[in-house]
Amino acid sequence: MRWTSHIHGSVSPVARAAARWQALVRRQVPASFHYETPRQARLWRALHEAVSPAGQAGAAWGLYEQAAEAVVGRLPEGEVLVIGLGCGSGRKDCRVLEACRARGKRAHYLPVDVSLPLVLTAAEAAAPLVEAGGGRIWPVVTDLTAEEDWGAWWQAQVPVGTACILTFYGMLPSLAPEEARACLQRWLRPGCWMLLSANLMPAGEGGESLQGVLPQYDNDFTRQWLSVFLEDVGVPLSSGSLRFFCERYKGSPSVPAVVAEWQFHEPVEIRGEEGVVYYEAQERLRMLASYRYLPEQVAEAVQPLGQRVIASWVDRDAGEGVFLCAGG
Ligand SMILES: C[S@@+](CC[C@H](N)C(=O)[O-])C[C@H]1O[C@@H](n2cnc3c(N)ncnc32)[C@H](O)[C@@H]1O
Repeated sequence: MRWTSHIHGSVSPVARAAARWQALVRRQVPASFHYETPRQARLWRALHEAVSPAGQAGAAWGLYEQAAEAVVGRLPEGEVLVIGLGCGSGRKDCRVLEACRARGKRAHYLPVDVSLPLVLTAAEAAAPLVEAGGGRIWPVVTDLTAEEDWGAWWQAQVPVGTACILTFYGMLPSLAPEEARACLQRWLRPGCWMLLSANLMPAGEGGESLQGVLPQYDNDFTRQWLSVFLEDVGVPLSSGSLRFFCERYKGSPSVPAVVAEWQFHEPVEIRGEEGVVYYEAQERLRMLASYRYLPEQVAEAVQPLGQRVIASWVDRDAGEGVFLCAGG
């Protein structure tokens, strides 16, 4: 298979090394640093399969199929571009592409992710669905938090009048609401449909403790996955331990999050080309925050983008929801 891939400057080795260094200095690791290498991509997929409601046969998977049918059923005649922001393995985007194919629509696919292995995995998964119908695939590797006007770029790639479905699956949990909006803003164009998924607060849970969902994070799969970053930057795994707790986002919407932090039990010095970062014993390095929403908070999150939720598929027991949004 042969595709023309677009590699943005934000993922160049120099840019990533600088961003990684900044993360260590600020003591806060952006989610993107947990997916980039083949080992991280593999461990994340194992975690996802083991504990995510959409990764377990039957559970929340149907939500994605229903959402795909619904959005494709609303499209006018003509071609469609599916943009998968933070596409991961592309498995959920493929449901949208399948729905296009079932309706005889020519679909193009733009898988976008910071991880080259995952972008290519998504492109490979989508190829039989897209290329058989005469569609094109443009893999894009970029840091979605980097400044860039992607809307103008993708519009220039497709014929005028092509409908657009933007998926943002698994991203509301990974990015703080303000950061998520900034990413979407760079890609959205008037007339785009947007499909988001959110990890929901478990039914009956007030949102402060999130005790019911902690086992989805505090497990060996997550520990192994997050440890790769530590090992790669030279933090000995004997120097501390991971702890998980809950906190509330201070902006809008004020969603709760499960946070994973590495707590140093002994001093550690990390030397890099940029200099030295020194962690005292008892200092903490924030490794991950996973945001959980109430369904109405998803509407609140997209409202500043001029978007509103027009349909949703929610499984509170599985703790997952898919939301279809449109402008106006
Ligand atoms: C939780 S996974 C979701 C993957 C897929 N959409 C799904 O729902 O199964 C988050 C994805 O977002 C990507 N990602 C996280 N932060 C990113 C960033 N700043 N820029 C680009 N991709 C990012 C990761 O590489 C990963 O593939």
